[in-house]
Amino acid sequence: MRILVIHGPNLNMLGKRDKSIYGDKTLNEIDALLKKEAKASGVDLVTFQSNHEGALVDFIQEQAGTARGIVINPGALTHYGFSLVDALVDSRLPVIEVHLSNIYRREEWRAESIVAPIAEGQISGLGWRGYVAALQILVSKLKAKRVR
Ligand code: DQA
Repeated sequence: MRILVIHGPNLNMLGKRDKSIYGDKTLNEIDALLKKEAKASGVDLVTFQSNHEGALVDFIQEQAGTARGIVINPGALTHYGFSLVDALVDSRLPVIEVHLSNIYRREEWRAESIVAPIAEGQISGLGWRGYVAALQILVSKLKAKRVR
């Protein structure tokens, strides 16, 4: 079972971005934790980060055919990335949306997610643990065939 973990713009800067908001782990550290978790559950994990919406769309289009689900932190594209949302919908894969910070407790413009309505669910504000939880939940739902 292959799962895609996708990180949007600026998440390559984790570890340098405001640690009181995003935590102190780097993206490599988070990906390593996810790979460990995936290995333990026999899942093939493909991780990808880009600062460019089109590159994220290309990745989803290329990978969707061989994957079973997506965990994505769309970064700021969460709030306005319509072509990313279209690519997620076209993939026909179950999507879990993750945010390190609690997007409902910050600036008003962050409180709207255009990804949330097409996602199975969203985890927001629980830091890197949110990614691990999202992966565990997605895998267990897929194993139980409870997702589309
Ligand atoms: C974020 C929240 C977004 O509003 C922001 O633009 C990010 C990161 C988060 O993980 O908390 O880049 O998705």
